[in-house]
Amino acid sequence: MTNAILITGGAGFIGSHVVRRMVNNHPDKLIVNFDKLTYAGNPENLTDITNKKNYRFEKGDIADEKTVSSLFEKYDFEGVIHLAAESHVDRSISNPMEFIRTNIVGTVVLLNHAKAAWADDFSDKCFYHISTDEVYGSLGDTGLFTENTPYDPKSPYSASKASSDHLVRAYYNTYGMPVVISNCSNNYGPNQFPEKLLPLAINNIKNMKPIPIYGKGENVRDWLYVEDHADAIETIYFNGKKGETYNIGGNNEWTNIDLIRLLCKIMDDKLKREPGTSENLITFVKDRAGHDKRYAIDSSKIAKELGWQPSLDFEEGLKKTVDWYLNNQGWMDNVLTGDYQKYYKTMYENR
Ligand code: NAD
Ligand code: DAU
Repeated sequence: MTNAILITGGAGFIGSHVVRRMVNNHPDKLIVNFDKLTYAGNPENLTDITNKKNYRFEKGDIADEKTVSSLFEKYDFEGVIHLAAESHVDRSISNPMEFIRTNIVGTVVLLNHAKAAWADDFSDKCFYHISTDEVYGSLGDTGLFTENTPYDPKSPYSASKASSDHLVRAYYNTYGMPVVISNCSNNYGPNQFPEKLLPLAINNIKNMKPIPIYGKGENVRDWLYVEDHADAIETIYFNGKKGETYNIGGNNEWTNIDLIRLLCKIMDDKLKREPGTSENLITFVKDRAGHDKRYAIDSSKIAKELGWQPSLDFEEGLKKTVDWYLNNQGWMDNVLTGDYQKYYKTMYENR
């Protein structure tokens, strides 16, 4: 097996779906998952493919020069799909430095080592950087983010992702590195860490705990099922044009409050509760600092040029997601450790 693909952050939420898809769909490629296993990285996300012949796991930090250097010496990578990041906006507000280190420094370390390993012969190589729609800032009541929307990041998280996007483009312009970038909207689905709105709400509803809604719940997000994002990533890796950016979205906007009301209905039904029981748990709490009002993606470019479209109806996706969490209580129990309890207390107590 000569062709190896490096996937960073493959033990996380989106990364684990990308790794599984690539391992199963491309038995001729060796998929190397490089992950630091921070609080968000979980080997349990990949138990079904751990023993596959074309899969390897390497533990390490993308910002650590020595480890990344040995990784590129050990494998002959044809490409990199870079997902590793600190990903939670609230954590970036309380601890920005970790976001600078991983998201910015880590990305440059990877770019440098890929560039050196490929010795500036970039034919058939690909450095694919996974980014977010948050780099575009916040929308008013109308309009959509296109690939040409000027960058205007508002949180330490989105500023660190914007910075890494600029650096990736700088390597394309300066050194001719064969890069491609995608910017995606909010993902939901199995294996998401319960610091993010949907899995946090699912867990709280199950345990009859308050569902914290920031501000008035009027902020809008565009939701996409994680498998559809993984499908878009596979498509872009193999068919995306170098130097290009592709926006990926669900064409599926919801205010947080309407989304949580729908989730409550689904959960009442699944848990055989009296209708309205879960909705009574909704609790409005202090808003997130600098909370972006609305994100919404125009994904017509990827649809037109690469033929990608979201496949799953939202209510169906939400029901599938709820079923996964209810059927995988062991997974949830393992992530709800002492560290999570501490995080939850700091973030939500007296909010
Ligand atoms: P996640 O937090 O669930 O997972 C991140 C993974 O990266 C974890 O496995 C973690 O262990 C690993 N990691 C963190 N720091 C590392 C380091 N220094 N070295 C090596 N590994 C490290 O994140 P996610 O939600 O799966 O997001 C993955 C990527 O997709 C991120 O780049 C994020 O910015 C982007 N993205 C996420 C969403 C979303 O809705 N979750 C939407 C658009 C884009
Ligand atoms: O848009 C893509 C981004 O989506 C990704 O780049 C990020 O990695 C990902 O975390 C996500 O960012 P958000 O901040 O939109 O996701 P989060 O789940 O944290 O919040 C979704 C919305 O719900 C947001 O408006 C804040 C709100 N919220 C969140 C939490 C955790 C609440 O009202 N209460 C909560 O407890």
